[in-house]
Amino acid sequence: MSLITLALSKGRILEDSLPLLERLGMGPAGDIDRLLRVPSQDPNVHLVIIRPADVPTYVEHGAADLGIVGKDVLMEHGGSALYEPLDLDIACCRLSIAAVKGSPYADPGGWPGGRRVRVATKYPEITRHYFAQRGEQVEIIKLYGSMELAPLVGLADVIVDLVDTGNTLRANGLIETGIITRISSRVVVNKASMKMKHAALGDLLARIGSLRA
Ligand code: ATP
Ligand code: PRP
Repeated sequence: MSLITLALSKGRILEDSLPLLERLGMGPAGDIDRLLRVPSQDPNVHLVIIRPADVPTYVEHGAADLGIVGKDVLMEHGGSALYEPLDLDIACCRLSIAAVKGSPYADPGGWPGGRRVRVATKYPEITRHYFAQRGEQVEIIKLYGSMELAPLVGLADVIVDLVDTGNTLRANGLIETGIITRISSRVVVNKASMKMKHAALGDLLARIGSLRA
């Protein structure tokens, strides 16, 4: 049996993935508080626990055979270097546009003209592509977190960020003005691993897939 390395996204996705892995008999067999690489309860599967944005890179380069990562991170990473065979339907949210409630940018009738609209986001590629497709030339301001602050302090006119309950937007006086796409976590697989470890990976994917049935 081939040894399989599974890359897990730290944070929210890890929390939602662990119950699935436990049900598959693939939960961590050690302490995951500090360790970055842990054996799983399945002797054929090792886990690496990394920043979500690094999962596509690890899998693309074959440092992990497969990974669990948000569709937002995958879209921002871009390219078709990975197989994406399963939607796990966990860590679900949406990628949305939001503006300060009552501001001209919250008007569903359209944005004021005159200058480029400034969009603050952690997702510059998705954002650029989305507005370009609509013929809108926007100025993108790349941030790494707390996007909701940007329009409150005049750094941006609107934001593109993840929304789930909408509580963070409401708490900051913002309103969702459009949805770019629905987000959930996906299983991604290295293309070479799929060939070299076909039997082991095929079996693993079937087991993961059966959980959702
Ligand atoms: P990093 O620490 O590397 O910046 P992060 O802060 O983005 O990572 P999390 O907040 O745990 O890490 O989110 C990781 C993923 O979880 C996102 O890429 C997205 O797919 C999903 N996610 C983010 N926010 C929500 C939310 N509010 N509700 C549901 N899923 C979410
Ligand atoms: C995410 C996202 C929003 C919030 C949305 O932030 O960036 O701020 O969740 O969720 P809600 O609609 O349920 O309020 P997170 O809590 O992950 O913080 P961070 O991205 O700034 O680390």
